[in-house]
Amino acid sequence: MRIAFSAAEVAPYAKVGGLADVAGSLPQALAALGHDVSVHVPLHGTIDRAKHGIPAEGPARSVPYARSRTRVSYPHVARDGVRVVFVDGPRIVRARVYGAPDDAKRYALFARAVAEDLAASKDRPDVVHAHDWHAALLVPMVAGPYRRALRGAATVFTIHNLAYQGQSAADVLDVVGLPKRRVKPEAPGQLNPVARAIASADIVSTVSERYAQEILTAEFGSGLQDLLATRRDGLWGIVNGIDVGVFDPATDRHIPARYSLRDMRGKAQCKVALQKALGLAVGTAIPLFGVIGRLVEQKGIDILTPVASEILRTGAQIVVLGTGEPKYEAMWKELAARHRGTLSLTLGFDAALAQRVYAASDMFLMPSRFEPCGLGQLISFRYGTVPVVRSVGGLADTVRDADADRAGGTGFSFSEYAAAPLADAIRRAVRAYRDEARWTALRERVMRLDHSWDASARRYVEMYEAARQARRAA
Ligand code: GLC
Repeated sequence: MRIAFSAAEVAPYAKVGGLADVAGSLPQALAALGHDVSVHVPLHGTIDRAKHGIPAEGPARSVPYARSRTRVSYPHVARDGVRVVFVDGPRIVRARVYGAPDDAKRYALFARAVAEDLAASKDRPDVVHAHDWHAALLVPMVAGPYRRALRGAATVFTIHNLAYQGQSAADVLDVVGLPKRRVKPEAPGQLNPVARAIASADIVSTVSERYAQEILTAEFGSGLQDLLATRRDGLWGIVNGIDVGVFDPATDRHIPARYSLRDMRGKAQCKVALQKALGLAVGTAIPLFGVIGRLVEQKGIDILTPVASEILRTGAQIVVLGTGEPKYEAMWKELAARHRGTLSLTLGFDAALAQRVYAASDMFLMPSRFEPCGLGQLISFRYGTVPVVRSVGGLADTVRDADADRAGGTGFSFSEYAAAPLADAIRRAVRAYRDEARWTALRERVMRLDHSWDASARRYVEMYEAARQARRAA
């Protein structure tokens, strides 16, 4: 099958969140199964061309834009059998991935530039697979004005996070040549790219089975639950995998000592090295909690903040790496100042440091309010780090509570979104940690889990077949 991905972020070129990890590893897994896969991504200003060997020029096209045209070029590279196409043009590319005042327009144009490129290629795709709001308008384009040019390619739209829908004024539609007819729940004069993609895709998917159920409810549906309910039969949930070649403590060059199930000594060395580097008290028996991710409410930062001091009172340490809302950054700065030697805060994102934190930590905290899939818990498993999570979305699908299931548990979880149940899960985790035999067994169990892409990539292939069938039937 020929499959054409498009996404705003693709690792290792441009990464803000988990979307980049998926768009940077699922195509490779599909290619390994024998499919022909391409990925289109804007050539963001943050992308280091020299480092990634991206040619200065690529094939160029003149893409319709409002009543005129704009020049877009498409330099590309090959990575592990996947053609990665960088979409470059003055009306598309900005310094950063997100946050420019014209994001709505430039991402709409990105979608059109992808449609033009696919329509002009001699190898037209069988399936066009768009991810999140940034690429969403590609779906109604392929289903509408580009249907003929693309010879009826099937479309799949994947939701990585329904909280972001990319709403803007409807005049963006004129600019990219899409009909104005509203899709519920768009208000007059408003455009909702995610709603349009959901309404017109052959199949809609999301990144875990649980989240696929949750988004049909008012609590998680972000206003699109009724529209999603009309697509219930074509709604798939496929849990993400991770790149087990990148996240492997036996070969990871970012961590100071390597380890594996056969010889775990390196993990303790990683812990001591991180404690030293971050100015924490040094001791291999001190329970160490890692937190990596955005300090925003989605990630549960509002329930984690009030229990931080209590975690430290159990004798544990906390290492935090991430950036977020200024309000929470300020609170955590204050906490770090008050708990020098036990709480370390690094504001920023650094992939190498993240891997050192996964390796050094005993436990990984993810008390998310909602979590479409979550990758941190899967990476933690690889590094023998036990996740403490709220049982929601992909976290519910991948983490089993070790007190509820002594023989098969893989972490600690709680249900109600509140500080007290989180604190309770943390206390249970620390208790288990202090029981050496139990902890060793738990750690070994999580390291044996297989969250490589293999199984999920096969599910994607089944979904693409279903999308093609739906298209033929239509
Ligand atoms: C988004 C979601 C996260 C998911 C990732 C990749 O970042 O918030 O849960 O793992 O996308 O699909």
